[in-house]
Amino acid sequence: MVLLIIGLKQLLTFKGSAAPRSGGAQGEIGLVRNGAVLTEGGVVRAAGTEREVMRHPLAKKARAIKVSGVAIPAFVDSHTHAVFAEPRLRDFALRTLGATYAGIKARGGGIISSVKAVRRQVPVKMVSQLVERAGRFLECGTGTIEVKTGYGLDKKSELKTLTAVKAAAARTELEMLPTLLSAHAVPPEFKGDSKKYLRYVLSQILPEVVSKRLAVFADIFCERGYFTPQESRFYLNACRTAGLIPKIHAEQLSNYGGALAGAGAGVVSADHVDYVQKKDMPAMRRGGVIATLLPASNFFLGLARYPDARAFIAEGVPVALATDFNPGTSPCWNMQFALSAACTHMKMTPEEALCAATINGACALRAGNRLGSIEPGKQADIAVFDVSDYRELCYYFGANLNKMTIKRGRVVYNR
Ligand code: NIG
Ligand code: FE
Repeated sequence: MVLLIIGLKQLLTFKGSAAPRSGGAQGEIGLVRNGAVLTEGGVVRAAGTEREVMRHPLAKKARAIKVSGVAIPAFVDSHTHAVFAEPRLRDFALRTLGATYAGIKARGGGIISSVKAVRRQVPVKMVSQLVERAGRFLECGTGTIEVKTGYGLDKKSELKTLTAVKAAAARTELEMLPTLLSAHAVPPEFKGDSKKYLRYVLSQILPEVVSKRLAVFADIFCERGYFTPQESRFYLNACRTAGLIPKIHAEQLSNYGGALAGAGAGVVSADHVDYVQKKDMPAMRRGGVIATLLPASNFFLGLARYPDARAFIAEGVPVALATDFNPGTSPCWNMQFALSAACTHMKMTPEEALCAATINGACALRAGNRLGSIEPGKQADIAVFDVSDYRELCYYFGANLNKMTIKRGRVVYNR
């Protein structure tokens, strides 16, 4: 099918290299006014001004749709915990009464309470919940998400989670790339023995996940009371050797050494990174580590402190933005909110934030050659917003401005 999208007031192509954008390049958006995009068989054939694109030989036989608005590459949300059984409403209520992250954990809430719910959940329900949530992502202009396990924490429940992701992926247009996050917390059966639990994950869960090709990435929560930097490095190296691409939850709650441990293990991204010190940023840059910032979780936890986006950009570390959608610390699937929080709380420019939510998100999923920009040869994943200027996407908040989502050259959401 040949599709021609015309009438775009602005088109942000982000055309350029498939590598993550850093420093000054993080602010380059590839702006085209009066834009159009031509796609064939799910792939972009031409993108530019309407006059240029109309001259393409395929334009004559295309189905043309006129969409007035601003088009960008569909968001790539590179960090979510989208498979869970229940929202953590008790944690939420406790937090309104002043409870902290550690306080909630001590009272039986936090990650472990989501584990109890997932272990009980029937597989078909997990699938239908994820399919429904996938629809919400598409509705907000997201074309691809990463999805983590980490609420099962035993072989049966972690595999149940990954199998649910696979089944759900067959029932939605949203692309979902799975991550094994069995090292999210130490489950009650291994209480106090994180090393023994990691040995269990590596020997019992990882081999089956790899042989059944159920995950692309491996992740670990490096934090006091969870897993140490040494454990993280050892664990991620083992996962990389087994064939998974490593990622790390680093320095979310304290400066603990996760960013350097991650760089040492060759992670594609270090996520959260609220407490990384400036002196550790050059090692991230040299290691090709993307800093994935998750400001919706800071917002939802009511934190005054946000990751230092300006320092990462100044140090040449590429920045990605993601929702961290999860039942405990970020019940938000709308990347437009992450854009707003990035600009208002982390002083990213709208251009940098949009780059972080598209091409750099794609790179954080090692998919920068296929996703995250609108240029010939790339997958035709496009979102069109009901605005006249791309900066409005970062300016309005708490709303969904998306009017159309196109995935692999097909309209999958049309308001
Ligand atoms: O990214 N930090 C650890 N993981 C999640 C929290 C998940 C949860 O609380 O359920 C995060 O914020
Ligand atoms: Fe997370």
